[in-house]
Amino acid sequence: MEIAAPKMNIQHNIQLQPYNSFRTKALAKLFAQPKTVEELQEILAACKSENKLIIGHGCNLFFTQDFDGLIIKPEIRGIDILQENADWVEIEAGASEDWDAFVGFCVSRGYAGIENLSLIPGTVGAAPIQNIGAYGAEVNDVIIGVKTVETETGNIKNFSNAACDFTYRNSIFKQTRKYAVTSVVFRLQKSFSYVEKYVDLSLELKDNPNPSLQQVREAVINVRTRKLPHPEALPNAGSFFKNPILTKEEKEKLLALLPDAPVYNAGEDSFKTSAAYLIEKAGYKGKRKGDVGTYEHHALIVVNHGTENGREIADFVNEVRNTVFQQFGVMLEPEVWIF
Ligand code: EPU
Repeated sequence: MEIAAPKMNIQHNIQLQPYNSFRTKALAKLFAQPKTVEELQEILAACKSENKLIIGHGCNLFFTQDFDGLIIKPEIRGIDILQENADWVEIEAGASEDWDAFVGFCVSRGYAGIENLSLIPGTVGAAPIQNIGAYGAEVNDVIIGVKTVETETGNIKNFSNAACDFTYRNSIFKQTRKYAVTSVVFRLQKSFSYVEKYVDLSLELKDNPNPSLQQVREAVINVRTRKLPHPEALPNAGSFFKNPILTKEEKEKLLALLPDAPVYNAGEDSFKTSAAYLIEKAGYKGKRKGDVGTYEHHALIVVNHGTENGREIADFVNEVRNTVFQQFGVMLEPEVWIF
């Protein structure tokens, strides 16, 4: 194994329980928290042969076993205005900035475009990786570019929006797992008028037809707080599965079994249905097995009632997937990364 120079501060045998929102226990053989792009490059160069994983707040992953490699948790911060005019502002945020704090910063200055993504847990750097979305908005709508370091070579590689290959909860970063995001550049608008996009949010705003940016943020926070468990109170990783995309034939088969299943157009010959609905119909809403279950108010959220063993979560999740597949012929794909 390469010997790391002390200034790089690579730690050994670090407990990962505080670094994943399910709070499962696992040891990382190596662990580092670079504060700059240069430090990140030095660490990558010093650990060339190691298996590597970059994490943010760990809100969308958990561990079922020790990690035999290097976990990098960047601490690259900073928010800078790159350019602006009367209509918009281009703003760069370091990958390790807290996502919701960044949304709050933008909303407080009147910069519109990410208010519907309020209270999503995680970091700015994680946002493009799974193309976070909520209440009819997706982060790819406002991303100009993503700055990264290629983990294998240490080379800086910057991606335009088009080069990120964004689709529903997916991107080139998630597909290839080859890049460490170091910062993200957004273009946000200086004017704002609310457009109804999502029934839950419109209901929350029904007495206020012309809400301010701040009021939309507050409405999103209210809806999310009511529907989703806070990871500090009940460890979870948000939606556990992606909403399945079906072909026309698959959609028709599903509707023959479940005529009330919600189905939305998602492109040509492509239809999205609700994973939460399927899980609920399979009898798994609020169901608990040992220390793992689904949330009583939302079937898509897998919650940890007290286990420190990630295998228990993985076993429960497999059971849910198998049951939904047996009953409705739809295989749910995890949104959460399991290691
Ligand atoms: N539903 C059920 N049972 C439930 C919950 C929901 O049948 O227990 C059905 C309802 O018919 C509801 C539909 O599912 O209308 C959709 O539910 P919801 O509006 O809560 O949205 P979702 O599709 O379950 C997605 C995102 C969330 C995001 C919300 C709001 C995915 C995988 N999840 O959830 O994102 O906050 O929309 O926009 O796309 C996350 O990714 O971690 C996440 C929380």
